[in-house]
Amino acid sequence: MEDPILKRRAIRKFTDEEISQADLDALIAAFQASPCGMHQTDKQQAVLVTSPDWLEKVEAATDNSCYGAKAIFIIGANDEAFGPRNSSVAVENILVEAARLGLGGVYIMGGAMKLASQTELVKDLGFDPGFKVAAMAAIGHPAESGSDEDRSSRYKLIIK
Ligand SMILES: Cc1cc2nc3c(=O)[nH]c(=O)nc-3n(C[C@H](O)[C@H](O)[C@H](O)COP(=O)(O)O)c2cc1C
Repeated sequence: MEDPILKRRAIRKFTDEEISQADLDALIAAFQASPCGMHQTDKQQAVLVTSPDWLEKVEAATDNSCYGAKAIFIIGANDEAFGPRNSSVAVENILVEAARLGLGGVYIMGGAMKLASQTELVKDLGFDPGFKVAAMAAIGHPAESGSDEDRSSRYKLIIK
């Protein structure tokens, strides 16, 4: 099997196929396995949205930022410093696991920022008080293969 880290692509087109419970469980395990700063696990929470009514609410609140994904991980943080770092690591864990499972997904920052400003909706999602939306991962069965650009040297890397 191709290394899922190398296989992962930003996927923004999804089929209507539901994600199986086994795959959702694997994605949840990937989230739970994410590292966090200073092992302060109380600084991060997530809401996994899969019900049609909540998917619709989140899409409506974020101007359809999640591309009709069948599962949206909304990562919340109660710490300004660790929040963006922890949540980014968690999103990547979820995205790599999705790639391993043959699913597709994408990091959603714009939608997360839109959702973060809607405090009533965030409260309804069930986050504990003090938690703000930090990042999201939108996951589904891929309806596109993603970019085929050469990824061997996308970033400048200095080796000393
Ligand atoms: C911090 C961060 C924020 C991102 N925010 C969004 C977003 O709001 N919407 C979106 O469609 N893609 C978003 N992306 C996905 C990037 O556009 C994508 O990862 C990038 O184009 C590289 O492509 P790749 O994921 O296939 O390597 C985000 C990625 C990162 C790392």
